[in-house]
Amino acid sequence: MASHKQNDSSAGFQPVFKSFATDAIHVGSEPEQWNSMAVVPPISLSTTFKQHEPGKHAGFEYSRSGNPTRNCLERAVAALDGAQYCLAVASGLAATLTITHLFKAGDGILCMNDVYGGTNRYFRKIAAEVGLDVSFADLTKLEELKAALKPNTKMVWIETPTNPTMKVVDIQGCADIVHEHNKDTIVVVDNTFMSAYFQRPLALGADICMYSATKYMNGHSDVVMGLISLNREDLYERLKFLQNALGAVPSPFDCYMCNRGLKTLHLRMKQHFKNALAAAQFLEADPRVDRVIFPGLPSHPQYELTKRQCTGCPGMITFYIKGKLEHASTFLSSLKLFALAESLGGYESLAEHPAIMTHASVPENERKELGISDTLIRLSVGLEDEEDIIADLDQALSAANDSSAGFQPAFKSFATDAIHVGSEPEQWNSMAVVPPISLSTTFKQHSPGKHAMLWIETPTNPTMKVVDIQGCADIVHEHNKDTIVVVDNTFMSAYFQKLSVLLNNFTIFLIPGIAPLALGADICMYSATKYMNGHTDVVMGLISLNRGDLYERLKFLQSELGAVPSPFDCYMCNRGLKTLHLRMKQHFKNALAAAQFLEADPRVERVVFPGLPSHPQYELTKRQCTGCPGMITFYIKGKLEHASTFLSSLKVL
Ligand SMILES: Cc1ncc(COP(=O)(O)O)c(C=O)c1O
Repeated sequence: MASHKQNDSSAGFQPVFKSFATDAIHVGSEPEQWNSMAVVPPISLSTTFKQHEPGKHAGFEYSRSGNPTRNCLERAVAALDGAQYCLAVASGLAATLTITHLFKAGDGILCMNDVYGGTNRYFRKIAAEVGLDVSFADLTKLEELKAALKPNTKMVWIETPTNPTMKVVDIQGCADIVHEHNKDTIVVVDNTFMSAYFQRPLALGADICMYSATKYMNGHSDVVMGLISLNREDLYERLKFLQNALGAVPSPFDCYMCNRGLKTLHLRMKQHFKNALAAAQFLEADPRVDRVIFPGLPSHPQYELTKRQCTGCPGMITFYIKGKLEHASTFLSSLKLFALAESLGGYESLAEHPAIMTHASVPENERKELGISDTLIRLSVGLEDEEDIIADLDQALSAANDSSAGFQPAFKSFATDAIHVGSEPEQWNSMAVVPPISLSTTFKQHSPGKHAMLWIETPTNPTMKVVDIQGCADIVHEHNKDTIVVVDNTFMSAYFQKLSVLLNNFTIFLIPGIAPLALGADICMYSATKYMNGHTDVVMGLISLNRGDLYERLKFLQSELGAVPSPFDCYMCNRGLKTLHLRMKQHFKNALAAAQFLEADPRVERVVFPGLPSHPQYELTKRQCTGCPGMITFYIKGKLEHASTFLSSLKVL
């Protein structure tokens, strides 16, 4: 597979936006805004807010017009779009509807001819029917745009890359032409595919940037939402009025979830790009494929424009399979890792047939003109392991064709398992891709033991000593094979330290099959409150093990002691696991840089970080782990007051 890869997927693209990750994590989430100083914003479900005196309120009156949790999200998104303002609405289509309400009968709307089927349907079947003058043009051709602008044109709607044929539109070029024609004509860019991480339409001259946040911005396929970002104050005031007056607002819970998703947007998008480029290169080199359309490939007609306009490309690939409809159908039904489903932009890989599924509402003659043929397949490449993604494409193509640095290597299929094990759609009648939260407290119905124990925590908290798990387990089990060796794996997480050879057979307290015991330990436990969940919003413990007798006993205790997590917390922690591989890699990268910086600084006495050669158990750590988490301990030079001043002077952390 390596031969299909280029070295650096982002080479030649625009540099990433400055402080993007820092802003995603901090803007709108300042603890100072809550009396409790909560680090993670609370979900404010109150629909109404107490006023000091009539008309004198603390910023909120009624939850449709403004909500504290929605506010946090809107502020974060505005920062990520380089915008002054953002408004969150109930869906991507609600964003389209709210924006279109800026206009009245007789006003002209010019829309890119290749857009999401629902956008096409809304403009054609609803906006046009209430008297808006709707027309379509191929905006990849600037001459066509010029020719299509009319004296009444009030809005130009761009989607780039387009869905599903991945055409890329020159945003700056369009905005210049439109604003020269009439400076008040509004240029809107549907930025759903690129996300704020890869493209900033407002910096390229657009007036409004909108999203179906249902896709990459939330990124976990569990929220339907729309977002509207902009800089013009007059437009913002009008849209804010419309947000309240039309009432298509998202729930505070969904705002919380989407904001939570934004915290890993940078990690997710980088990995989507990497995986999609590898998949696109694989498909392009395959004789069973007719043509691949991916803006990150040099063969894409607007490859140069994409590099000039974007910082990278998302996981969306369109390709034409060789053959006929039956080849496309067999390919799609033979996929194992990719789920055959509409939508896109989640951590899981999806595939679909636009002509039959997402774009069935586009008239047939137009589909033909746009190239949405029977052999066109759209992929949303997820965050699973690259080799597993390519292997799945390879085997499905075969099925379709039949009918015609020093650390241990990463654990095989870690991301694929994190994303899929325990979340199989087949276990629900609805075939939900994301597991439902089962709140039922009861279910219709169709051994005790005695052990001594050794408890290991490694690295230790806070002095970061590393314990040789295999060495300890060997000694303990030689002494008495029934003595239980428990490892608290909270710091390392399942990504950096596996504690057994076999995949764990048994899991309790919601333990997915990814935390197994390779180093001789009998039990691996976590405070999942930390890295495993990773979003500072769940308190939970996890216990993984292989021994059936111990499992039975612990399962009995789980039930008898009753210290079980809520189904909601289980859902949230499982959601967190989907990005564990990305988060841990970034924690390691950031922590290593911070540790090296501290170690080289004369104001620091000593740094303890197991990923530094100066750590007493550095060699052991490399032998035992695939990397190190973000935990660093250091001694500052001076006294308590130096440590205190240092801590109270930190701004980001
Ligand atoms: C590019 C694009 N824009 C808008 C939408 C509509 O968004 P929603 O489904 O959140 O209403 C979609 C949905 O697939 C889309 O792909």
